[in-house]
Amino acid sequence: MDRNIKTVLLSEEEIHNRVAELGKQITQRYVGEDIVCIGVLKGCFIFMADLVRCIDLPAAIDFMVISSYGNGTSSGDITVKKDLSRSIEGKHVLIVEDILDSGHTLTFLKQYLAARNPASIEVAVLLNKPSRRQYPVTAEYIGFEIENEFVVGYGLDYAELYRNLPYIGILAPEAYAS
Ligand code: IMP
Ligand code: MG
Repeated sequence: MDRNIKTVLLSEEEIHNRVAELGKQITQRYVGEDIVCIGVLKGCFIFMADLVRCIDLPAAIDFMVISSYGNGTSSGDITVKKDLSRSIEGKHVLIVEDILDSGHTLTFLKQYLAARNPASIEVAVLLNKPSRRQYPVTAEYIGFEIENEFVVGYGLDYAELYRNLPYIGILAPEAYAS
C-alpha cells in the first residue's frame, strides 16, 4: 500500500466486480441502440477504460476536459478546455465521471450537452458523495455511495498524484502537509 494512504476504502476486486455490474446494466438499458460514451478527463480515465470493456454495444468514445476555478472543489466557474470531437445530435449519450460531489460539474455538463439535441443523456459515476450535494443532479448508474471523505486512486487525484493506484483510498493527513 502507498505510504500516504490511510485506508483502502474500495479494493481492486470490489471495484472490478461493481464495474462489471454497471456495464451489464448499461448494456441492458441500451439494447439495440448505439451510444456515445463521453469521459470527463482526467478523473474518468481508468473507470472509463474498464467500464466500456464491460458494455456489449456499439459504443463511440469521446472525451471532454473541463476546468473549474475556485478553491480546490468545483465551486467556481466552469469552462470547457477540450470539447467533443464529433456531433452528438440524435445520439444516446452516456457521461462517464469519476465522482459526483457538489454536482456542479454534472449540472453544467448536462445543460451544455443537452443544447446539442442528443436523443438522451444519462450519467455513470464510479463514486457518489450525496452528503456534499449542492445541485439537484443525480446519476443513473452509481458504482458506490461513499461518506464525505477525500479519496484518491483509480483515476482520482490529489494534486495530480495517486491516479495510478489500482484501488480507492483515503489519504493520510501527512499527504496534505507538503
Ligand atoms: P463536483 O462538480 O463538485 O460534483 O465535483 C466533481 C469533481 O471534483 C470530480 O470530477 C473530481 O475531479 C473532484 N473531486 C470531488 N471529490 C473528490 C475526491 O474525494 N477526490 C478526488 N477528486 C474529487
Ligand atoms: Mg480532480
